[in-house]
Amino acid sequence: MGIKLDPWGHLSISDYEKLFTQFGIEPIDSVIEKLPVKHYFFTRKIVFGHRDMEKWLDALKCGEKVVVLTGFMPSGHTHLGHLMVFEELKYLQQLNAHIHVAIADAEAYVVRRLSRRRAIKYGLEYIAHAIAWGLDPDRTIFYFQTNQSTDYYRLIQLFSRKTSLAEMEAIYGELSPAKIVAALTQAADILHPQLSSYGGYKYVLVPVGADQDPHIRLTRDIADRFSTELGLERPASMYHKFITGLDGNKMSSSRPEYAIFLLDDEESVKRKVLNALTGGRATAEEQRKLGGQPGKCSIYQLYMYLLSIDNKELLEVYNSCTSGKLLCGECKRKAYEKLAKVLSEHKKKYKKVVETGVLEKVVEKPSF
Ligand code: TRP
Ligand code: SF4
Repeated sequence: MGIKLDPWGHLSISDYEKLFTQFGIEPIDSVIEKLPVKHYFFTRKIVFGHRDMEKWLDALKCGEKVVVLTGFMPSGHTHLGHLMVFEELKYLQQLNAHIHVAIADAEAYVVRRLSRRRAIKYGLEYIAHAIAWGLDPDRTIFYFQTNQSTDYYRLIQLFSRKTSLAEMEAIYGELSPAKIVAALTQAADILHPQLSSYGGYKYVLVPVGADQDPHIRLTRDIADRFSTELGLERPASMYHKFITGLDGNKMSSSRPEYAIFLLDDEESVKRKVLNALTGGRATAEEQRKLGGQPGKCSIYQLYMYLLSIDNKELLEVYNSCTSGKLLCGECKRKAYEKLAKVLSEHKKKYKKVVETGVLEKVVEKPSF
């Protein structure tokens, strides 16, 4: 049985290796050598796969105009899962790529049936957090899908003419009109920077979670079909693993007890971290004897994704865990302290972004 990727689902993907053979996602290894700066996301294989990223990096190196485009579905408060993507974008911006960020308010409306008011509120929150985390607002384009021009919306109509229900069902499984609209809208997100009215970028890189690969495959096929008519090129993509929630499943705002939100107060963060699922054994005695299992531990993930940027420090956590020297209680307390520090610094910056009115300058708020 192959794995089914559902871009609208909530499950985490446990077997990343299969994505290489089943869908033709390339392992990230060959790309790492080409990176001018080797961010730990790549060396730790948090970013584990890609399509055509080498071409994109070559273009970047040759001084071509390159763009990174990704999108966020504004369906809840911003959490650590989003923060990881902000970190990716910040890194790619430092390499000199232009950055475009879509707030998928049209998708939230049609697929998640979210109210406009909430989608707009959450969308603005993501943008403020992205800027607070270090994305340079002067070099980033943030937009809401519903604010886009007719050029962008025209793409959706054009794309609908050269896609069939059968091919979309082969990619997505069961469909609804809402999902079809959302998928074609996402294709417009990814391909519209190539239009001259949107900058005429020929090299587009899309960083996403692997669950979004169905959209990437569809969009690459669509690009091929419009190569003559619109001069579209296939976009490149790179895929990250998700930081898991504190129960071991995908971190999601629909299960708030297992997600760390960037504006959570310290007490909630503490409670959530101390209650998290770990790779610890049933008793302290057993753990001293057998060691813990960091591969199954949501706390270890916090260290790996965010809290221990230094490799030596991460290795230290790993070794003291597997040797049974470190017990989960102490390990969780340390993680909590580090996390509280990261979040309190971030919160200060977030407040500043909100209070100084940066948002009003960088994004047009949709009307209802
Ligand atoms: N579908 C994406 C999600 O659920 C959001 C999204 C919309 C997106 N447009 C995009 C992602 C373009 C990457 C590129 O999170
Ligand atoms: Fe996880 Fe730390 Fe416990 Fe090891 S000691 S299983 S890393 S919480």
